[in-house]
Amino acid sequence: MLIFSTQVDLKSHLQSVSSSKKTIGFVPTMGALHKGHLSLMAESLKENDLTVVSIFVNPTQFNNKEDLEKYPRTLDSDVEKMKTLNDNIIVFAPTVDDIYEGKTISQSFDFDGLENQMEGKHRPGHFDGVGTIVKRLFEIVQPTNAYFGEKDFQQLQIVKKMVEKTNLPVNVIGRPIFREENGLAMSSRNERLTIEEREKASFIYKILLEAKEQFGTKNAKEVAEWVEKTFNKQTDFQLEYFEIADESTLIPSKSKQEGKKYRAFIAVFVNEIRLIDTISLN
Ligand code: PAJ
Repeated sequence: MLIFSTQVDLKSHLQSVSSSKKTIGFVPTMGALHKGHLSLMAESLKENDLTVVSIFVNPTQFNNKEDLEKYPRTLDSDVEKMKTLNDNIIVFAPTVDDIYEGKTISQSFDFDGLENQMEGKHRPGHFDGVGTIVKRLFEIVQPTNAYFGEKDFQQLQIVKKMVEKTNLPVNVIGRPIFREENGLAMSSRNERLTIEEREKASFIYKILLEAKEQFGTKNAKEVAEWVEKTFNKQTDFQLEYFEIADESTLIPSKSKQEGKKYRAFIAVFVNEIRLIDTISLN
């Protein structure tokens, strides 16, 4: 397996093995790989001639210093996991300096309002950081297809918007959420939970399933009130937000309209660890 730690080396390798006829699939990650990440890579391997995976904990998208410091960094075991999938994956694991060249700051983006809801509202600057790194990685890797998880549905929509606005020739593909057996959405942050917390955290998915059920007969406000009440009755989890929003604009819905697609979004703290999840409602 080839592992590159500088953009110069990666670019020159890609130039030597690629050609206009070959498709490049790209899976950007921050490492601490789990089956959700691996499912994106499997898709890329199936659909492209070459697959590049980046592993880079991007400092500009963290609005919380402690979250950045404690983010798991496990390159050796990540490489082992990728090897079990396919030894031909091309890994790009650069340093912060190689990517940011001394200026660890974000570019400002206008994502037509997608950035003002949910994660954007609660994590100021987060999506400028995501836009900055994904754009930079797309420019370096120049993929044909790039794969993102619906686990971060708002991020997926933001990346699609960034590609549309910057005219980068990349096809952005969203893939379904991979879950633990108990329903907890797989996440690198789950590694920071105790076994007991991981078990209990299936609560989050159960809430989403119940919200989906209720959305058949109730309006968004009533469902949100039920979610808030349910969280208030327990002490293990702290609800940061629960929103039901239009899937394309991400604007929280006040009333249900025929033909529109809706999605529930949730962010929850388990002690200081923040978990997010989402479900399609119709
Ligand atoms: P990271 O959290 O490592 O996630 C990398 C990709 O894996 C994202 O597209 C994410 O949505 C997807 N993913 C995470 N958990 C998943 C799951 N349970 N099922 C399916 N897909 C899942 O998202 C980022 O990194 C960063 O913001 C990044 C895009 C790499 C930019 O720094």
